[in-house]
Amino acid sequence: MAVLLPILLSSLFLSMPIPSSSTTYTTLTKGSLLSTQDVLISSPDGIFTAGFLIVGENSYCFSIWFTEAQDGNYTVVWMANRNQPVNGKHSGLSLQDSGNLLLTDAGQFSVWTSNTNSNSSVQLKLQDNGNLVLSTSDGEFLWQSFEFPTNTLLPGQLFTSETILVSSRSTTNYSSGFYKLYFDSDSVLHLRYEGPEITTVYWPDPWLNIWDAGRSSFNGSKIAVLDESGYFQSSDLLQFYTSDHGIGPLRRLVLDVDGSLRVHSLDKANGSWRVTWVHNSEPCKIHGICGTNSLCIYDPEAGRKCICIPGYRMINQMDWSYGCEPDFQVSCTNESASGFIQLLHVEYYGYDIGYFPNSSLESCKSLCLNYCECKGFQYKFDLTMGYYSCFPKTILFNGYRSQNFEDPIYIRLPALNVTTLQNSDQDFSLQCKDQVTPIDRPYNKIKQDRVKSYLWCTLGVGAFEIICLLTYLFKTQWRSIARIQGYLQVATGFRKFTYAELKKASRNFSKEIGRGGSGVVYKGVLSDSRVAAIKYLKEAIQGEAEFLAEIRTIGRLNHMNLIEIWGYCAEGKHRLLVYEYMEHGSLAKNLYSDKLDWKKKYEIALGTAKGLAYLHEECLEWVLHCDVKPQNILLNSDYQPKVADFGLSKLLNRSAIDNSMFSKIRGTRGYMAPEWVFNLPITSKVDVYSYGIVVLEMITGRRSTGNHANDESIVVEPRRLVTWVKGNIKVTDERASQTKDIVDPTIKGDFDMRRMEILIDVALKCAEEDKDARPTMRQVVDMLLHQDCNE
Ligand SMILES: *[C@@H]1O[C@H](CO)[C@@H](O)[C@H](O)[C@H]1NC(C)=O
Ligand SMILES: *[C@@H]1O[C@H](CO)[C@@H](O)[C@H](O)[C@H]1NC(C)=O
Ligand SMILES: *[C@@H]1O[C@H](CO)[C@@H](O)[C@H](O)[C@H]1NC(C)=O
Ligand SMILES: *[C@@H]1O[C@H](CO)[C@@H](O)[C@H](O)[C@H]1NC(C)=O
Ligand SMILES: *[C@@H]1O[C@H](CO)[C@@H](O)[C@H](O)[C@H]1NC(C)=O
Ligand SMILES: *[C@@H]1O[C@H](CO)[C@@H](O)[C@H](O)[C@H]1NC(C)=O
Ligand SMILES: *[C@@H]1O[C@H](CO)[C@@H](O)[C@H](O)[C@H]1NC(C)=O
Ligand SMILES: *[C@@H]1O[C@H](CO)[C@@H](O)[C@H](O)[C@H]1NC(C)=O
Ligand SMILES: *[C@@H]1O[C@H](CO)[C@@H](O)[C@H](O)[C@H]1NC(C)=O
Ligand SMILES: *[C@@H]1O[C@H](CO)[C@@H](O)[C@H](O)[C@H]1NC(C)=O
Repeated sequence: MAVLLPILLSSLFLSMPIPSSSTTYTTLTKGSLLSTQDVLISSPDGIFTAGFLIVGENSYCFSIWFTEAQDGNYTVVWMANRNQPVNGKHSGLSLQDSGNLLLTDAGQFSVWTSNTNSNSSVQLKLQDNGNLVLSTSDGEFLWQSFEFPTNTLLPGQLFTSETILVSSRSTTNYSSGFYKLYFDSDSVLHLRYEGPEITTVYWPDPWLNIWDAGRSSFNGSKIAVLDESGYFQSSDLLQFYTSDHGIGPLRRLVLDVDGSLRVHSLDKANGSWRVTWVHNSEPCKIHGICGTNSLCIYDPEAGRKCICIPGYRMINQMDWSYGCEPDFQVSCTNESASGFIQLLHVEYYGYDIGYFPNSSLESCKSLCLNYCECKGFQYKFDLTMGYYSCFPKTILFNGYRSQNFEDPIYIRLPALNVTTLQNSDQDFSLQCKDQVTPIDRPYNKIKQDRVKSYLWCTLGVGAFEIICLLTYLFKTQWRSIARIQGYLQVATGFRKFTYAELKKASRNFSKEIGRGGSGVVYKGVLSDSRVAAIKYLKEAIQGEAEFLAEIRTIGRLNHMNLIEIWGYCAEGKHRLLVYEYMEHGSLAKNLYSDKLDWKKKYEIALGTAKGLAYLHEECLEWVLHCDVKPQNILLNSDYQPKVADFGLSKLLNRSAIDNSMFSKIRGTRGYMAPEWVFNLPITSKVDVYSYGIVVLEMITGRRSTGNHANDESIVVEPRRLVTWVKGNIKVTDERASQTKDIVDPTIKGDFDMRRMEILIDVALKCAEEDKDARPTMRQVVDMLLHQDCNE
């Protein structure tokens, strides 16, 4: 892993001038005041200095830096107030009589404080290792800068579950940036891009199993340290030696502004810093570097750069993170109006419409043309299986070109332009000259309209009557599958919302559209005018890190028959999820109306099966829904079904649930498999059972439970619904007429008899008492699709 890169360092770390003519101390005691102008603290060996650094016009930050300057600039290792510089007028750091260290601006505003107090005498000292320590006379540490790192870890400084490294904003702005290093709840060190719009983990490679990435989640001590000799060791088994391993050079581990984690060592000979370790030799694999529809190219000579894909142009000339927009008219109405161009060795990550194994190039093309939102597809050779698989994409993001990546991506373009663009054979280098483009944009700017327009697609809502959900992680068993399939679903970005934002979007949570065991759902309109369903979770996990970890599992699930999650909010006590809004509400709402004809019902049965099959088999982790019912199947504007409310149990605080609502978490009466009642092991077959009941309801127009307000329909218990259907079918061998008898009279003769028979067959198999007699959801999909092929 320790690959050395000839990277031009000067642009990668921040260096700042400091005021001249200063007084230097080694120790501060109670009553001392450091002003921005003149006083410095030095470590005994003189290597480190603390004081105020100029970080901009009239702005200063209280910092620690290496005393020795490089070309007149200082290398900062820590800052007290990186996000809130002081203006230098009557500002200063004082060690109060109470033992508190206080940074004030304009004489009164408290900008930063150590929150310490002590009645005995205390002293502030900068140690030889760069640690600024506030200690009592008997040597007790009240506060130390090593516990609150910014973007730098020094040798000997412990990195723990409590600490987090955050990159700087840009090479000229030291405030908190978009990249973070942290121990996740799985006890593994991760790097994450946390941009204004999208959050994604990029190290270790998210499609890799933790073990395959050379890490372990078994040691929960969450501790890591770089020692004096350049050896780094972490409790997740990550370890490395810097290339200049040995006692001697000064070193620092920095999360640089470009999202790379590097060790820099000071070269004594010429007094400059050089990279002696970097987390990944492919800087383009860091997420979020180039925006949508662009692509990252790295070459060791020229460095890293972003380019637009052919046919697209840059949105904001100053900032690549806005990405590129089409330079053509998008046409969806006419399939032959679109064509594809091939880009070799290019990979785009995430945002797949689905995963289609063993696809021919032609079938993959027509698949993509079938979806208006399809921007292109990754055509990837699966070494293990020996065939090509197709990954049609709705968003082209996280793209990079690397000789190490064998497979091409095909970009969808108007047929008219394909020939010109394919033949122009540009390496697209004309559009951009700069190398490392700093990402420097205000937090609150909302862009990426392309992304939005895709997300627009369907609006709708549902009663989110949720409750249960068990997630089983059969990690070992699924490892090999994860490696193949993990490619697709990972890292679908979603964003974090503030509570204020959601409150505003939902007009103070005024429009309630659903209510269930896990919380209440409100309709809202986001600031970018997307309509959303906002679910306010009650009794959710309170720790933000754990909440985020669980949410990422849901966020990774990405299938056209699963409801899409756009983001979350974890602020104070509030835990909210933001979903796409489904225009036609739930299947429950539509089932007994006359809006669903036979064709739509069949599509809903098939789509729901696809969504569930994806949950059960195709994901990195095996997710059981446990509450499949018409209320949780939502319909978009085309009456395409999307399964809602999967993955929630992990978000709910188990201890709270165990006590008060345990009986409720097992699904909904009327759809519950017998395993729940008889206390048998719960497997994916519980969802198959519920699915079978739902389909029988759709066919017969009879309800399996009495919980509904509408009295028009006949209400039966699930077992009796199944028995009734079976009884009516077995009466004679002449199935056709019998089939007609059980079918909802409102469907009348207006259905396809053969398909109906298959559907009844499948539903009855699904609703078998014996779980082993039920098919898997994948088999259900195959049976329903196979029927289509035979026609
Ligand atoms: C030192 O800082 C100045 C201005 O802040 C900058 O122009 C110069 O490139 C810096 N030198 C190095 C080696 O970073
Ligand atoms: C410091 O002394 C005050 C008054 O004597 C006392 O109230 C306070 O608890 C003491 N604080 C500590 C931390 O010992
Ligand atoms: C966990 O990691 C720490 C730090 O690397 C190590 O000291 C400890 O022995 C490890 N514990 C186990 C059970 O492996
Ligand atoms: C400093 O010296 C090292 C080799 O000792 C060399 O690789 C590096 O380019 C030099 N840096 C500068 C700025 O001269
Ligand atoms: C695509 O073709 C149309 C019609 O020939 C032309 O007007 C347009 O400029 C082309 N776009 C690009 C990006 O080449
Ligand atoms: C679809 O596009 C093709 C090629 O551009 C054109 O020949 C055909 O007439 C179009 N069909 C329709 C229905 O517009
Ligand atoms: C892939 O599809 C081809 C043609 O449909 C088929 O012959 C082949 O057996 C399939 N391969 C696998 C591994 O399923
Ligand atoms: C640094 O970036 C932050 C966040 O965008 C911004 O508020 C601040 O003004 C910037 N500081 C300077 C000196 O540009
Ligand atoms: C929202 O509700 C809070 C408390 O219920 C109230 O104080 C506030 O005025 C409301 N805001 C709006 C815009 O209705
Ligand atoms: C779960 O809820 C209990 C009691 O409501 C609370 O004490 C506990 O801290 C909560 N746990 C988490 C992880 O939020």
